[in-house]
Amino acid sequence: MISIALDGPAGAGKSTVAKGAAKALGFIYVDTGALYRTVGLKFLREGYDTNLDCHIDAILKTIEVDIKFIDGTQHVFLNGEDVSEAIRTPEASMMASAVSAKPPVRAFLLEMQRKLARENNVLMDGRDIGTVVLPNATLKFFVTASVEERATRRYKELKEKGSDVSYEEVYKDIETRDYNDSHREIAPLKPAEDSIMFDTTGNTLQESIDNLIKAIKERIN
Ligand code: DC
Repeated sequence: MISIALDGPAGAGKSTVAKGAAKALGFIYVDTGALYRTVGLKFLREGYDTNLDCHIDAILKTIEVDIKFIDGTQHVFLNGEDVSEAIRTPEASMMASAVSAKPPVRAFLLEMQRKLARENNVLMDGRDIGTVVLPNATLKFFVTASVEERATRRYKELKEKGSDVSYEEVYKDIETRDYNDSHREIAPLKPAEDSIMFDTTGNTLQESIDNLIKAIKERIN
């Protein structure tokens, strides 16, 4: 099986670029952030805030996370409920960042991700795919873009979905999440030593998709 790790900060265009490239290559696209968001959603629904002042292990025991591919698109399920849309709010984003810093949560989701890569050709999008989840991935990319560009993209995306957030809020959210994700003790966001840097600043999504497909094809054929 071929596995391609795509790590990088929030809003770098990873998911859109990876989806487009996976389709062209006939791989499945795995969005691992959605798994952390699903766990985070459960904590939100239980009424916790991002301090997570609670018994994480006990709550994890009440959670079943499933991932299914319907018409080639990933859906995530929380105890049988399709929460693929519900995990996309700013609150769920912040909670995902908070739960993802907790070792029991990372351990809880690890095997599920590895199993997907054992059984399929995958393009797996996350923060620690090349460093922790799939250290032997066939190829590893670290996808980046400037904070301004990432905030602009995320802001447009949220506006299109009818959200009333301000650009400043989105910018701050991205900065906070970058800081949390790269300073946590466990599996911090950082490029694997053998990863290829892939900067999407200034490129349209289609250009980035084309560049990624080219970069992959050059290396696996
Ligand atoms: O990619 P995303 O924005 O949907 O990810 C949501 C959060 O989950 C993000 O703050 C970091 C975390 N995450 C992680 O720690 N490890 C991953 N492999 C994927 C996401």
